[in-house]
Amino acid sequence: MKNIYITRRETFNAAHKLRREDWSDEKNELVFGKCANKNWHGHNFELFVTVKGVPSVDTGFVINLKELGEIIKKSVIEKIDHKNINLDVDFMKGKMSSTENLAIGIWKEIEHEIVKMGGELVKIKLFETENNFVEYFGGKEPY
Ligand code: NI
Repeated sequence: MKNIYITRRETFNAAHKLRREDWSDEKNELVFGKCANKNWHGHNFELFVTVKGVPSVDTGFVINLKELGEIIKKSVIEKIDHKNINLDVDFMKGKMSSTENLAIGIWKEIEHEIVKMGGELVKIKLFETENNFVEYFGGKEPY
């Protein structure tokens, strides 16, 4: 039987800044724009976690979406919602708080939990704003 892809949506809001202290104010503003603001700012993030699998004969489910929602809440949302990504979030320590790095960090936080449920994580889609989002499909990390 062919795989079916199923997605759970969760939301959180968090503060961050994209700023390199080894760069001048001018260069930070040129590269990171408003996200370089010294005194922080927030985004309303929208997260889509996609899992693939074959539906169970017993339940018709690929994965129980309520349980998937609980995994995402426990492994990601509770750690990041209403927090400062640069300062408060353990899995983002030492990384630039870009949406790309956040998607990679979220993948690493939840992948093993999804495997335990018998699912296969295939995509993290993360909106930082209405117009800007990233998609991460796993595999070798860029650095
Ligand atoms: Ni920003």
